[in-house]
Amino acid sequence: MSLFDAFRFDGKRVLVVGGASGMGAAAAEVAQAAGADVVVMDFADIALAGASAIHVNLAERASIDAAVDECGGPVHALLACAGVADGTPGIERINFIGHRHLIDTMMAGGMLARGGAIGFISSAAGLGWEANLPLLQELLETPDFDSAVAWVEEHGKADYMSMKQAMCAYVARQAYSFLKQGIRINAICPGPTETPLAIANKETWLTFGADYRDAVGVDASTPLEQAYPLLFLCSDAAAAINGITMVTDAGYISSGVTSSFPDANPIANFLLGRL
Ligand SMILES: NC(=O)c1ccc[n+]([C@@H]2O[C@H](COP(=O)([O-])OP(=O)(O)OC[C@H]3O[C@@H](n4cnc5c(N)ncnc54)[C@H](O)[C@@H]3O)[C@@H](O)[C@H]2O)c1
Repeated sequence: MSLFDAFRFDGKRVLVVGGASGMGAAAAEVAQAAGADVVVMDFADIALAGASAIHVNLAERASIDAAVDECGGPVHALLACAGVADGTPGIERINFIGHRHLIDTMMAGGMLARGGAIGFISSAAGLGWEANLPLLQELLETPDFDSAVAWVEEHGKADYMSMKQAMCAYVARQAYSFLKQGIRINAICPGPTETPLAIANKETWLTFGADYRDAVGVDASTPLEQAYPLLFLCSDAAAAINGITMVTDAGYISSGVTSSFPDANPIANFLLGRL
């Protein structure tokens, strides 16, 4: 036993939703290395040795319900990693509504253990949520999967940025009610990260902030570099952290806000909803 054990997951069950590839796969590996018993849910084939694999399609409520039943409890850390790019049918369900339904179902079923934590992968694209909070609250107040899907359709919000903003707003809004049940909820907002998804959309995703990275001498993140802070937020070492979206972008947005890297200022203000 050492003081550092608070960063570990020994004896804990960690569920990674969207853990077949990219950051989710890296998070599943880190969780295993930190002592966890890992369950991976994904639409794609899951290859991680030693992990339990459960098929799920986040775009379909019945598929989520079946996956939650198969998983059961207790879950000590739930990492909500799955996501798709603009242009993918069902983006509103895969990127937000399906995750919310899965979490709500697990909370209602008492499967998330007291002292546990939820960690989302949001995006710099979600940072402007506060400016849109009144509208996003309408979505967050929809009581279930189908009414949320209907709201998104009615308001024309089935896009990447809107759903990442909804995720960040959800994280902030649920901090109070979930902690009353002993569960923390946080998110990371990664900058460009070399994953299959980013490589498939490299003209927009991996060119973003490339001038800043050249200037400071860093590359786009690796999936592992995003997995570490995500696991930290869900560890006991982060017991005091709840309801935040932590920007994990090597300092791009901060350098833009302060104009210490002036070229990032307009985009930072845009993403933060300050224009
Ligand atoms: N890569 C980046 O630059 C970047 C930056 C910011 C945020 N993000 C976010 O990070 C998260 C992880 O993405 P990634 O870059 O690691 O990509 P990835 O494609 O490697 O991982 C996404 C995972 O989601 C799964 N998935 C897709 N549709 C699904 C569905 N219908 N049901 C269940 N699972 C499904 C995929 O099979 C895959 O395993 C996403 O939410 C993405 O929006 C990525």
